[in-house]
Amino acid sequence: MHNNKLKYDVPFTEDFMREHGILNRVLLIYDNIVDKIHHHVDFNVETLEKAVDIIRLFIEGHHERLEEDYIFPLFEKHKKHLDLIQVLKEQHIKGREITAHLKAICVQGIVDNKHKFLIQHYVTEFVTMYRPHEAHEDTQIFPLVRSFMTEEEFKKLGDLFEEFEHQLFGPHGFVHMLKNLDDMEKELEIDDLHQFTPVD
Ligand SMILES: [Fe+2]
Ligand SMILES: [Fe+2]
Repeated sequence: MHNNKLKYDVPFTEDFMREHGILNRVLLIYDNIVDKIHHHVDFNVETLEKAVDIIRLFIEGHHERLEEDYIFPLFEKHKKHLDLIQVLKEQHIKGREITAHLKAICVQGIVDNKHKFLIQHYVTEFVTMYRPHEAHEDTQIFPLVRSFMTEEEFKKLGDLFEEFEHQLFGPHGFVHMLKNLDDMEKELEIDDLHQFTPVD
């Protein structure tokens, strides 16, 4: 009984880091698409659009909204990492702009050389910005959140975030998204973790 409870009681800061795991897997997909463009290998624009949609709906529309509405204001209130918070907020805005460009290209469904160049440009900008962005949140932001509130407040906020996620994506939304990612990785042939291990 006790173990079962523990199993489901994931602190929300851990949830945020798990969402960064999702973001990282999309960045890996983005990397692969840039690589394919670079080597003149064809790719399915619908696959890119699915990846863009995960960023658009789940990362920007949910994860970052919570950071902006609940996490960053805590740091502003306690006057901690103010410069960093400012940069993180600016990067969210820039990220949404890049994602909107990518979505617009995908919606057209045409992948000629001009579009390939633009995809490469925007995807590279996004990956370059988001790797350090999430690394700083994981190491400087999330570990401090708990120190700004009581255990009860922390638990309540976690419940609220969970409710938001269920409202937006349904109780199985996260699992479906993982399945989507698995399928995209299979299609792009980056699904075997072993392939990233260097061969001596
Ligand atoms: Fe962020
Ligand atoms: Fe984040």
